[in-house]
Amino acid sequence: MDPSLLHLSAAGVSLVLDCRGTGLPSVAHWGAALDDEQITPDLLTAVAPQPIGFSVDGEVRVSLVPEQSSGWLGTPGLAGHRDGRGWATAFQVTGIDRDARTVRITATDPEAGLDLAIDLELHPAGVLRTRAALTSTAPGVYWLEHLTVFLPVPERVAELLDFTGHHLRERQPQRTAFTHGLRVRENRTGRTGYDSAYLLCAGTSDVGNRAGEVWALHTAFSGGARSIAERTYHGWSALGGGELLLPGEVSLGEGETYQTPWLYAVYSDAGLDGVSDRFHQHLRGRPQHPATPRPVVVNTWEAVYFDHDLGRLTELAEAAAAIGAERFVLDDGWFGSRRDDTSGLGDWFVSPEVWPDGLGPLVDVVRGLGLEFGLWVEPEMINPDSDLARKHPDWIMATGARLPRPARHQQVLDLANPDAFAYILGRLDALLTEYDIAYLKWDHNRDLVEAGHPGSGRAGVHDQTRAVYRLLDELRLRHPGVEIESCSSGGGRVDLEILERTDRVWASDCIDAHERVMIQRWTSLLIPLELIGSHIGAPLCHTTHRSLPLSMRAGTAIWGHLGIEWDLTRASPGEIADLSAWVALYKDLRELLHTGTLVHADLADPAFHLTGVVSRDRSDALYAMIATSSSASYPPGTVGLPGLDPDRTYHVRPQPPGDVADGNAAAWGAELPWCTPQGVHLFGRTLGTVGLRLPVLFPDRVLLVRVTADSGPEKVTE
Ligand code: DGJ
Repeated sequence: MDPSLLHLSAAGVSLVLDCRGTGLPSVAHWGAALDDEQITPDLLTAVAPQPIGFSVDGEVRVSLVPEQSSGWLGTPGLAGHRDGRGWATAFQVTGIDRDARTVRITATDPEAGLDLAIDLELHPAGVLRTRAALTSTAPGVYWLEHLTVFLPVPERVAELLDFTGHHLRERQPQRTAFTHGLRVRENRTGRTGYDSAYLLCAGTSDVGNRAGEVWALHTAFSGGARSIAERTYHGWSALGGGELLLPGEVSLGEGETYQTPWLYAVYSDAGLDGVSDRFHQHLRGRPQHPATPRPVVVNTWEAVYFDHDLGRLTELAEAAAAIGAERFVLDDGWFGSRRDDTSGLGDWFVSPEVWPDGLGPLVDVVRGLGLEFGLWVEPEMINPDSDLARKHPDWIMATGARLPRPARHQQVLDLANPDAFAYILGRLDALLTEYDIAYLKWDHNRDLVEAGHPGSGRAGVHDQTRAVYRLLDELRLRHPGVEIESCSSGGGRVDLEILERTDRVWASDCIDAHERVMIQRWTSLLIPLELIGSHIGAPLCHTTHRSLPLSMRAGTAIWGHLGIEWDLTRASPGEIADLSAWVALYKDLRELLHTGTLVHADLADPAFHLTGVVSRDRSDALYAMIATSSSASYPPGTVGLPGLDPDRTYHVRPQPPGDVADGNAAAWGAELPWCTPQGVHLFGRTLGTVGLRLPVLFPDRVLLVRVTADSGPEKVTE
């Protein structure tokens, strides 16, 4: 292969870098796999743009960090200056190091006094990740505005899909045409955000769950972030991402380096399910990916809120053990003066008022019942009404004398201050040392507004985000067995960098199953089910006041890392019996759900959602037919079951206890013919194409369908 062409390939994906000349390399191809033989100089000639009139003379090359010096007039990859100079760069490559999976490009611009390093990695599941590092090599200060890495996508992409949302309604999809111009999704909340772009996808016009080409980008950062889709009249379309820096937030002295977040990029020719499959395989392949069965959690929040009492919580723990729970998490309210959400954050000492003997008695009860003990913390926050704030008012983030607007009565602790950092690390370390704690629910309940370093007043989101990563890393080092959940007023901190150091995300404070169907569907576009906290709430949902039967609440919650957030001491014996059956089902199915391939059908009827998990060997599968409103046709039509082996035969039948969709509207008609314990036996290819008849369901009901490979073909009647 021509040495100026560099090819990385994995799992049906190729990345070809054009390294001709001395300038920064550009991406000649990112998409479907090519073989080495196809990658010749003629490939570059074949796709090289024709020089046009009234534009810069010669070839325009758009690199991973695009520069004006190469003729590029769109968004620059780098913006910054030295008191007004050094803002335009022309990096010259000084080295390209590669191995089978990674490439490192180093470059320099002596006139601007800058060095650049770009890393690219193509992982075994076909997930590409890239980042850049900028070093100042000259005296004085280089003020960085942004450093953004771009990946081009072919001009045939027609649509963009990205996400928005708010508290109780995270990760809602939005589709737009990919037109000329710039679409920038900026997150200025100082955390990943409910409304983060999450995955910015560019797709062909036929994209669905199972079809179409998609190029998807995730900017993995838990502070300010920018995700960009740009299409120019030069025929150039690209996705880019990086950190959103506040004014003056990053300045580089001589020898200092700034590193961008990782950008994760996935190409799929199998629609959105192809995107999630690559991400899930990638995440499951990490050494720190949870390897033990995901334990059934009982969390105290919606059961007792701030009403902490040993007797009451003992009863709850006993009820938890009785239904088969495996982890008991004590939520907010156990420390300092925290009897409601107006005070106490920062005082990470067990409240002697509520817990006169410390947490030991409760931990003993929980452990004695055979459950793990988990504890809620919110280490980055401080209430002005706290001993900590009274003692260290100078630890509160602010731009000067004025405190930022409070949110949930709280402010942000400046963790870039080494003393504040040491205090928080010390307190968390002490709690984890004193008590037998298996799990921390790590919360973060406000946006970072006017988040400056007290004293200097300089913007501090960048430093804060990195300090939080350091804090988590240090705690994990000291307490390697402890699992951590990333929660941020529900699902406000869900990104792949926080997941490098946490074991699950809390998808939303809304545990209304109706809303959760879509929150979980879209969260799982990036993150596999075992990392998504998913709870069964009380019959009357606290955040929406919708009343839903257990079959819907549990039949949707098992599609994640299952928990229960409901005062079980008030549940009826019947509810407890039914809940126990659901917990048992989750335990039976969790290996399948947490290792299999997640699939979705493309359905014409907007009332229905069909999702499934198929084991990697395609011998076993579970599907959920979920109705969230009344169906368009009555009775509803058929649906193909995706993901099965076309050449095997399968036994298809309803899965108890999810076979009784509480008032399944068959009450007014006869049973659905296939929906019996005997079920039907069909080829995977038949189930994929002809499919199964959907049931008549009341809105907000689910029917679970189990599909297992037959041992032999003799049962097949077709
Ligand atoms: C917000 C979280 O999302 C909830 O689950 C709960 O932990 C509360 N904070 C506690 O204050």
